[in-house]
Amino acid sequence: MKLKSLFKKHHILYIAFFVFVATILSVSTTSAVVDLFNIWGKMLYVLCSIVIAAIVACFMAFGVEETMSKHRGSIKNSLLVILIEMAFTLLSFFVCKADNLVFLTPAIFVCALLAILYGYKMAYVAAVCNVMIACYMSSAENLVFAPIVLAICLMVSRMITSTNERSTLSMMGVAGAIVSFAVSASVLFVFSDNRLGDWVSVLTTSGYMAINCFVSVMLIVGILPLFEKLSGVLTEFRAQELMNQNTPLMKRLISEAPGTYHHSVMVSNLAEAASDAVGANTSLVRVAAMYHDIGKLKRPQYFVENQGGVNPHDQLDPFESRDILFSHVSEGIDMARKYKLPMDVIEIIKSHHGDSTTTYFYYKALQDQYRGDNITENDFRYGFPRPVTKEAVIVMLADCVEAAVRAMTDKTAETLSNRIDDIINGKVNDNQLSEADISIKELSIIGRKFKDVVGGYYHQRAEYIKPAAQLSTANE
Ligand SMILES: [Fe+2]
Ligand SMILES: [Fe+2]
Repeated sequence: MKLKSLFKKHHILYIAFFVFVATILSVSTTSAVVDLFNIWGKMLYVLCSIVIAAIVACFMAFGVEETMSKHRGSIKNSLLVILIEMAFTLLSFFVCKADNLVFLTPAIFVCALLAILYGYKMAYVAAVCNVMIACYMSSAENLVFAPIVLAICLMVSRMITSTNERSTLSMMGVAGAIVSFAVSASVLFVFSDNRLGDWVSVLTTSGYMAINCFVSVMLIVGILPLFEKLSGVLTEFRAQELMNQNTPLMKRLISEAPGTYHHSVMVSNLAEAASDAVGANTSLVRVAAMYHDIGKLKRPQYFVENQGGVNPHDQLDPFESRDILFSHVSEGIDMARKYKLPMDVIEIIKSHHGDSTTTYFYYKALQDQYRGDNITENDFRYGFPRPVTKEAVIVMLADCVEAAVRAMTDKTAETLSNRIDDIINGKVNDNQLSEADISIKELSIIGRKFKDVVGGYYHQRAEYIKPAAQLSTANE
């Protein structure tokens, strides 16, 4: 437990640094006495790459990124990173043998892919590992390629995470190629002799680097959907696409359950403001908030926001009503899987009501009494997992706040503020946030943000003052 909290406080960066230094020292010492091209040397390569891949996987498991969701740190994703790193090591074995071809190392592609899937910090770690692997695999006497490749890996990782539109990637590929050529040429010229043959070699090698950068970014465009599916991670690109009103699910929500669509937009706005304030993954929060109630599409008229005065629950037993209400979560999960929404989003759909009580139907059942006295609150609790991540908590609270505020008739600043406090305290007292990675301070920041947004929607307007001429005619 202590180790986990140590990692959580980001001491992992220091720990990782010492692990890397230890790895470099041990491998360098061993490689000095082992012939790298005999069978033991090759086994050493493989062992080193496994150790390095495992270190990268540790970053996944314990979470380097503050906004890393539970799913990104899952065993499945750690294994995926190990596989990517192993594939990289294998490719490097073939590519890095020739002096010039080492500039075609797939390190840039791997770093760009990891940056998009797991954040740029993760890619920085991978960049160091991959350049180390490339150095070991290289038969070049001069390791000047190492700082060049490392610099370009870092540049591409940062650059590629600064956009959320796939269409801009090709432009980034071109820009990255130009910068790569310039960086390589300027460094290599410093180390070259002033001979024509050397200059030609410098330009050819820099050309390889530029091609490598461009092809790596272009490959990302083609291969990313496959990795999005394999990892289940919501990338910035996918988030942007899912927020579009033209996705099949959004179209259905707008036409079949317009009330739920409007509710989801409001929840998304509330959640986004809170997410920014507490450093959560805002893209994930926005998308999850938009899709949290898609399960209502099956029977939209049974949910208050889609009812035009006729409430079908009036004709139903409270237990039947409860079952319909509960089913919107499981149906939402099924629908999200059918429409291939990312696992990060599905986790939030699953926990957006936690195991809270449907109080309205619970009290209705108590009033009806026709089932005897055996009714307990547990009969009316959603049986779903409680939120674990900060993102899931924000969506749960924003959902409750939106529904409660919409139902209020008195919307003065004070009543709105009190109601929001009551909702957050109610969730805490009902233990709905007991498993979540969130502090009291963060909850109070979230509450404050909700009040700001809700206050903006329902602020009291100053009464319109009629011009004097109109007042006089009105009085006549
Ligand atoms: Fe819901
Ligand atoms: Fe909702």
